[in-house]
Amino acid sequence: MAKHAAGLRASKPLSIHVDELMRRLSTRTATIGVIGLGYVGLPLAVEFATKFPKVLGFDISDERVLVLNAGRSPIRDVPEERVGELVAAGRFECTSEFTRLAECDAVVICVPTPLGIGNLPDLTCIFDAAEQVAGALRHGQLVVLESTTYPGTTEEVLVPILERSNLHADRDFLVAFSPERIDPGRDLPLHLIPKIIGGCSERSADAARLLYGAVFDETPVVSSARAAETVKLLENTFRLVNIGFINEFARLCRQLNIDSGEVIAAASTKPFGFMPFQPGPGVGGHCIPLDPHYLAWESKRQGFTSRFIELAEDINSQMPSYVVDLISGALNESRKSLRDAHVLVIGVAYKRNIDDTRRSPAVAVIDRLRMRGAVVSYHDPYVAELDGRHNDWPEWRPRVIVPYERRAGEPSDEASSHRRRRVDTLTSVPLDPGHLARADCVVILTDHDVIDYQAILDNATLIVDTRQAISAEKAAASSARVYAL
Ligand SMILES: NC(=O)c1ccc[n+]([C@@H]2O[C@H](COP(=O)([O-])OP(=O)(O)OC[C@H]3O[C@@H](n4cnc5c(N)ncnc54)[C@H](O)[C@@H]3O)[C@@H](O)[C@H]2O)c1
Repeated sequence: MAKHAAGLRASKPLSIHVDELMRRLSTRTATIGVIGLGYVGLPLAVEFATKFPKVLGFDISDERVLVLNAGRSPIRDVPEERVGELVAAGRFECTSEFTRLAECDAVVICVPTPLGIGNLPDLTCIFDAAEQVAGALRHGQLVVLESTTYPGTTEEVLVPILERSNLHADRDFLVAFSPERIDPGRDLPLHLIPKIIGGCSERSADAARLLYGAVFDETPVVSSARAAETVKLLENTFRLVNIGFINEFARLCRQLNIDSGEVIAAASTKPFGFMPFQPGPGVGGHCIPLDPHYLAWESKRQGFTSRFIELAEDINSQMPSYVVDLISGALNESRKSLRDAHVLVIGVAYKRNIDDTRRSPAVAVIDRLRMRGAVVSYHDPYVAELDGRHNDWPEWRPRVIVPYERRAGEPSDEASSHRRRRVDTLTSVPLDPGHLARADCVVILTDHDVIDYQAILDNATLIVDTRQAISAEKAAASSARVYAL
């Protein structure tokens, strides 16, 4: 990719402060601020702190600030020792005092971009962060937005808020967008993931390139912030659509009595033109279920309907119910009903090897199982507690109407009390022979590498594997009955 693609806005006359910013970035003497110290902001802040003398982390959560300043890490992928060393060396400091943004030469915004009512983009956190930056903005700063958002946000939302400071973008301060492409749980160092940059001007792109070039091996520049925003949406919509397709394909294969796992593995041997996706109980996390709605919303605003997004969303959102039907059917073949059945769920994080349960399809499956009277427990080595009240999944939000009132004469058993209390906390149980043998059905919803699948095969009687965690050969060699998605 060319260093500067065509189309960048010509820069305004150079301010002396911007010159100084460039000097500090290129000599790596700049102070860097990171707003939002979550899954995206914290790893990035830690990387910057190894290259720049001072990184200030900003978060509205006092608890998070305290934990980090004590040298501890709230995120599994960020080693505690690394945070501890950087804090002790004075290279990384966290604060909720946003006036200290003025100390920073470059400020990177990594705050959440959730969905609001009706799946509309909710930019509240970006508004708040932008106002904090505007309040402390000074000449010669670079502001970069990293939060995933719809095309146009940087130029149409962020810049106008920053310019309330009476400073002008591209003359007094610089602005860019750079999407975060981190993949939690994947053992891939951050610096190896090319960092896309889109500046609001050529000079903004140059400054952002100096900033990220300190940490990332490759920093491809696209023609505008709007293009960079759209890159991220394309990547995540691509995943949503392909996961939707492969989920539908897996359902078709079940209908045809064909092992979809075998077919996908065989197709993957093709050295070109095929990229494997795996079926599962649905999509989760803060990205894949949300980001395409940002694109769909913007496209609707332009009078364009993106049918792929709607279709994939529709198929993926049916998967938790499909899995529950699969469990019910499997129990039925053992002459058992789902009602009052003990179901042990393996894995509740939204994907393997992480501890994040936001919008996890496991939460939706558990909810539906309990609605149908099953007694559910779970094991997840990374999630000690599953607290519905703090989960982002719509089903676990408190409701005004309780759907299952206890009917007169109905026994006050454990299952019915679970049905009434849908929003509560579950605790991970050990994965021991006792729990496995007691379960009427063991359901694999997240395929963490550290789980002992052989122990599941050896001790369970009925297994529903939604992640192809158990090979057909191992299933055939076991006395357990195994149903694959
Ligand atoms: N998690 C991922 O894998 C991932 C990957 C790529 C992109 N993204 C995008 O990055 C952005 C951040 O996601 P995340 O997963 O890091 O979120 P997160 O919830 O893990 O962390 C966000 C942090 O921001 C803080 N915060 C919220 N509002 C704030 C404000 N106004 N000022 C200061 N701090 C504030 C929160 O307290 C929290 O600590 C989102 O737009 C997301 O879509 C996430």
